[in-house]
Amino acid sequence: MKRFFVALILAMLVSACGISEATTRQMTPTELGLSSLRTLAQNRGISIGTAVDVKPFRKEPLYNSVLAHEFNLLVPENQMKFALLHPERDTYDFKDADAMVAFAKANDMQVRGHTLLWHLSVPRWLSEGNFTRDELMDILRDHIYTVVGHYRGSIIAWDVLNEAIDANGYIKDSIWQRVIGPEYIDLAFRWAHEADPQARLFYNDYGAERRGQKADALYNFVKGMLERGVPINGVGLQMHVGLTASPDPQEFADNLKRLAALGLDVDITEMDVLIQNSKVKGSLEKKFAEQGRLYGENFQVCVSAPNCKAFVIWGFTDKYNWAVSFTGRPDKPLILDESYRPKPAYNALLKVLSEK
Ligand code: XIL
Repeated sequence: MKRFFVALILAMLVSACGISEATTRQMTPTELGLSSLRTLAQNRGISIGTAVDVKPFRKEPLYNSVLAHEFNLLVPENQMKFALLHPERDTYDFKDADAMVAFAKANDMQVRGHTLLWHLSVPRWLSEGNFTRDELMDILRDHIYTVVGHYRGSIIAWDVLNEAIDANGYIKDSIWQRVIGPEYIDLAFRWAHEADPQARLFYNDYGAERRGQKADALYNFVKGMLERGVPINGVGLQMHVGLTASPDPQEFADNLKRLAALGLDVDITEMDVLIQNSKVKGSLEKKFAEQGRLYGENFQVCVSAPNCKAFVIWGFTDKYNWAVSFTGRPDKPLILDESYRPKPAYNALLKVLSEK
């Protein structure tokens, strides 16, 4: 209530005195702060999350206050990946990931763990270790038991396995596949389940939101796991999309539905909307409007699906986004601008949450 009056008085001052935008810059989080994504999401029983970049997390208080104000689910963007958590064979480094988990606890947020296994983020000691199959299985089991055990009770869901199949359904080349063989997948899920029986276990991948080859490959892949009795609870759909590369909403909804029929949840795990390379011409304003429409459209599909209970954005301010490491070009793919002000995308999410 107090926040409401402060915001109201500030808003009145701005309109009455014509205070310039520059002097109101400190007004986040999030700008007038009358509502937030997390309060509305909570009312709807959905988790709204973001990936967290360790650099601003460590040094920029405004980043953290917006993070805690807007989101009730936190995902370390890189800090739980294999190479960062396990830099030497006998060394685990939990420092940064622990700080994020502590932050989440202090701010009443849940945490998704990302990711136990990937063909990337393989440390040098592992890739150059010439380990035998038995040794690599021991290493993997030790890693999963140690990491999942360390966070037992603190992590709501683990992306156990990330991006393991191609569009044809073949298991991608990786040190795990090469040395252990495809059994590494079932083993990883079983070990994760043993280490924390309460954590929800996910297979996470990209490009499988729309109908098509990759979506079918993913469907058959997880169906096979269920048939083999592997403890998997859900699928993470990353949803890195672009202005002219976003799934047809009906196809996306159908995909969620057929995964629900298998008894699986679907978390949207890494959404962003790149605006570069698109056929949408015109001003930045026009691109932001279309970007907002796509955030809203995809979020609406998730909110309407009973098995889509978490919606995670891959960052929240354009000031820190992964576009350069993805495409080599800067972009503005997120929901707040570089000064943490709401973009149309933010308002689109808020609108979905405000409607019944
Ligand atoms: C990305 C991070 O955002 C970058 O900071 C890092 O350099 C590389 O990894 N799919 C995933 C994420 O599952 O882990 C990736 O994160 C983005 C694509």
